[in-house]
Amino acid sequence: MRGTRLELRSESLRINARRARALSAGAELFAMVKADGYGHGLRFAAQSLRDDVDGFGVAMLDEALQLRSDGVDAPLLLLEGVFDAAELVEAAGAGCELIVHSEWQVELLEKTSLPAPVRVWLKLDTGMHRLGVPLTAVDALAVRLRACGQVSLVGMVSHFACADMLQDALSMLQLQRVRDAAARHGVPFSAANSAAIFRYPESAGSRVRPGIMLYGSSPFPDRTAAELGLAVTHRLSAPIIAINEVPAGDSVGYGSSWQAVRDSRIAVVAIGYGDGYPRHAPSATPVSVMNADNSWRRAALAGRVSMDMITIDVTDLPLTRIGDRVELWGDQVSVDEVAQHCGTISYELFCRMTARPERITS
Ligand SMILES: Cc1ncc(COP(=O)(O)O)c(C=O)c1O
Repeated sequence: MRGTRLELRSESLRINARRARALSAGAELFAMVKADGYGHGLRFAAQSLRDDVDGFGVAMLDEALQLRSDGVDAPLLLLEGVFDAAELVEAAGAGCELIVHSEWQVELLEKTSLPAPVRVWLKLDTGMHRLGVPLTAVDALAVRLRACGQVSLVGMVSHFACADMLQDALSMLQLQRVRDAAARHGVPFSAANSAAIFRYPESAGSRVRPGIMLYGSSPFPDRTAAELGLAVTHRLSAPIIAINEVPAGDSVGYGSSWQAVRDSRIAVVAIGYGDGYPRHAPSATPVSVMNADNSWRRAALAGRVSMDMITIDVTDLPLTRIGDRVELWGDQVSVDEVAQHCGTISYELFCRMTARPERITS
């Protein structure tokens, strides 16, 4: 058994959901479980969270249908709505709520006969300029939606572009725009992602949409998940399978990108980009090694990530032996720290996990 493991913790998901709930002033809590539950497994995420949230957000109908076939009967929100008429009929039949982000989706609702009533949220482009109808079109589109049979306009939504950033000049303007539009039409609004849940309590509206915080990662570059009271949900580890003595001046791995500046001990760990560990993780990315004395010690990547292996510098960890477990991220090294070294975000690290590591769920 290779021993490359991905530990997934449902109690931690629940702790994080309760944290979101406590920060959200009575708003409905819709857990974002798109992209396979941020790489945790759609079914695992939904089953873990079902008693602690009011519904789930997914990016596409297939994800919603998967949840329904797993027996999830909670409200489901399709974040990008439907992509064509056939999906619209199916989504209505499955009782999904839809986001309507473009006029073509309003037209689809106008000309498609639905098997069941459907609840829709009109998505506004309040400044991010990704999905959403222009502010100038909101009133007319809301009137058209209200005139559709079987359609009820239940609210206005928007998404923050910068709520996680150190300098955020946009969120308050975005919030004001969605709030004004919702008030004009006498409906509630939904805007808050994880960053806004922490940072802008006034953005909670009638429904918050946390994602990354549920998965134990900080939305902010300058605050750790532990500081935010979040529990680790995703822990990746693998064993050491070989140890090499590398004389000063020799190099390690593909491209000889890491060179020993002193006589070094290099451990080979059974994980690589074929498992989802990022290939672009540079030398010096931290890992933690569990030594024979049961203590965790930090070490660092030395050389390029291969498909099935990485190499780490354990010169300063004399107790390290073959078989010792190495944590790539989780309790000892946060996923956010690894992401920062890799120039990416935890979202991507989570989503890139492949099927290969053995899943250990608790
Ligand atoms: C529309 C929408 N709402 C909420 C979220 C959750 O964001 P986060 O994971 O940053 O909390 C996302 C994620 O991308 C989203 O696309």
